[in-house]
This record gives sequence, structure tokens and C-alpha cells, in this order.
Amino acid sequence: MTITTIFLSFLLLLFGLANSESQLNDKEQTVLLKLKQHWQNPPSLSHWQNPPSLSHLSSSHHCNWPENTCTSGTVTQLLLQNKNITQTVCDLKNLTVINLSNNFISQEFPKALYNCSKLEDLDLSQNYFNGTIPVDIHRLSGLRHLNLGDNDLTGELPRSLGNCNGLKIVTVYNNKLSGDIPSGLWTSLNLRVLILSDNSFMGELPQRVARNLSRLEINNNYFFGMIPVGVSSWRNLLVFEASNNLFTGTIPQELTSLPYLTTLFLDQNRLSSSLPTDII
Ligand SMILES: *[C@@H]1O[C@H](CO)[C@@H](O)[C@H](O)[C@H]1NC(C)=O
Ligand SMILES: *[C@@H]1O[C@H](CO)[C@@H](O)[C@H](O)[C@H]1NC(C)=O
Ligand SMILES: *[C@@H]1O[C@H](CO)[C@@H](O)[C@H](O)[C@H]1NC(C)=O
Ligand SMILES: *[C@@H]1O[C@H](CO)[C@@H](O)[C@H](O)[C@H]1NC(C)=O
Ligand SMILES: *[C@@H]1O[C@H](CO)[C@@H](O)[C@H](O)[C@H]1NC(C)=O
Ligand SMILES: *[C@@H]1O[C@H](CO)[C@@H](O)[C@H](O)[C@H]1NC(C)=O
Repeated sequence: MTITTIFLSFLLLLFGLANSESQLNDKEQTVLLKLKQHWQNPPSLSHWQNPPSLSHLSSSHHCNWPENTCTSGTVTQLLLQNKNITQTVCDLKNLTVINLSNNFISQEFPKALYNCSKLEDLDLSQNYFNGTIPVDIHRLSGLRHLNLGDNDLTGELPRSLGNCNGLKIVTVYNNKLSGDIPSGLWTSLNLRVLILSDNSFMGELPQRVARNLSRLEINNNYFFGMIPVGVSSWRNLLVFEASNNLFTGTIPQELTSLPYLTTLFLDQNRLSSSLPTDII
């Protein structure tokens, strides 16, 4: 069997919707055992077993597995942190999407995922991933969507991120990241969405950005210098949020000529003019 998508959050939702009928409990247990099988029976989950018999007494058996929290006999939480799931997950050779969003995972970036050679969408957001983003992250060469938002990552964005030409969406909001944005990332050919808010990034915005960049969110950082959005390569911007940075100079009149712009935040900067009147 080939599965190409793992949606833990989706499974959690399914579990949450189930009620406490024992038939459903048996079903839940079956789902978990299937999941274990999908993950190639990692040793850390070897205690996930069907009970020997007495099945009607054991219909909530899986609620005793320490990874599961049951409410009224139905699984409402599945906590798999530090279970080496990321070590084995790439044994699913055709995996293209991994979504581990919101799983309380506390570890460094799982380089084992480099073995998922077809990976396109990687969402590790809303966990406690710590340490730095590895400098060789470009080994995930097919990546289109990278979401590392809301973790405890430190250090700079690796330069090599600028070499991942397939990247369309890069989201790293709310970490402890710092330093300049790699110039190659700004101009990465397919880049459409770049979300850097709530970190300690600094530097000036470039004159030239990816032609299709439509959403740029950099609120609450230390970006400085003039705002270059009047330049033609910025013309596809739909959303530009840059509150609470250190921008100076005047707000460019050219903002009014950005044809698609619908959202603009420039408050809490050191800008010396107000918005062009056409915009207000
Ligand atoms: C992965 O997909 C390829 C075709 O794209 C197929 O030949 C191969 O059997 C699949 N691998 C597995 C483990 O299903
Ligand atoms: C995780 O994987 C490593 C290497 O495969 C192994 O040494 C370790 O015991 C595993 N940890 C758990 C909790 O299974
Ligand atoms: C991962 O799941 C979250 C929560 O359901 C969702 O908001 C997000 O879009 C998903 N990410 C990807 C890459 O599909
Ligand atoms: C990728 O898989 C190979 C073979 O299973 C293993 O030896 C190697 O350590 C894995 N690479 C990473 C980065 O985990
Ligand atoms: C990341 O968090 C884990 C678990 O809390 C901890 O053991 C490890 O030392 C942390 N790594 C770094 C680089 O802070
Ligand atoms: C930019 O977007 C247009 C319209 O969606 C698309 O046709 C084009 O291929 C994109 N160009 C790049 C370099 O992604």
C-alpha cells in the first residue's frame, strides 16, 4: 500500500469526532495499528498490540498506550514526540507531504527526512523544534512548501535555502531566528509567500524579489532602510505586512501603483511621511 500523505491533525480530528461506542473503539484501535504499520512498526511503538482476547473487555485497550489520551473512551490526543517517527517515516518511499503541525515535538530539525526524496510539503509548525535550521536543507531538493512557524529555532536562515528553486511558500514566523535573509531566497524563482514575522531578522529589503512574490510578512523584526516596494519587481504584492521594524525614509508614492495590493501594515516604524492619499 502506498500512502503519500500523513495528516496527523486530520486523524486527531477524526478521533475527536468519534463517540464512545465500543465498536468505534475497536475501529480506533484498528486505525492506530494501521498507522503503526504504515510507519514500518517502529520499535518505540512495539507495545501497540491487539489484546490477546476478551476483546469486549478490552475495547478501550489502546487508551492505556501511553501515547494516547482518551476522553470518554475515545482518543483525543496522540502524542508521538521523541518516538523516532521521523527516523522511519521515509521508509514510505513515495511520501510527498508530511504534516506534523501541532504535536509538541521537542527535538532538532529531523535530518532523517532528507531520505524522503519525493518530499514536497513539509509542515513542522507549532512544535518545539529547536537548534538551527541545517545548512544542507537544500538536500530536500523537491521542496515546494516549508513551514517551520511557531517553534524554538535559532540561528540564521541557511544560504542554501536560496538554492531550492522549487520553493513557493516559506514560513518561519515566531521562532528565534536572526541575521540577514539569504539574497538567493528573495529571488528564488518560484517564491510566492514569505512569512518571517516575529523573529529577530535584520537587513534591508532588496530592490529585486521573486517576480511572483505576492505575500510578504515581516512584522516584528529589525529590518531597516528604505521601503523599496515602488520597484517594478515588487508589483505582484497582494499582502505586505511590515509593522514594528526600523524602516526609515518616506513611504514611496509608488505604493499606489501596486495593482494587486490589498493589505498593507507599516505602523511602528520610523517613517517620516504618512500614507499616499490615494491609498487612504
Ligand atoms: C512509488 O511510486 C513508484 C511510481 O512512481 C512505484 O513504481 C513504486 O512501486 C512506489 N513505491 C512504493 C513503495 O509503493
Ligand atoms: C531511535 O532510533 C535510534 C537509531 O535508529 C535508536 O538507537 C533509538 O533507540 C531509537 N529510540 C527509540 C525511543 O526508539
Ligand atoms: C498541516 O495541518 C495544519 C492543521 O490542519 C494546516 O493548517 C496546514 O495547512 C497543513 N499544512 C500543509 C503543508 O498541508
Ligand atoms: C537515510 O537512509 C539510509 C539508509 O536507511 C541511512 O543509512 C541514512 O542514515 C539515512 N539518512 C539520514 C539523513 O537519516
Ligand atoms: C532541544 O530540545 C531537547 C528536548 O528538550 C533538548 O534535549 C536539546 O538539548 C535541545 N537542543 C538544543 C540545541 O537546544
Ligand atoms: C508566476 O505566476 C504566473 C501566474 O500564476 C505563472 O503563470 C508563472 O509560471 C509564474 N512564474 C514563476 C516563475 O513561477
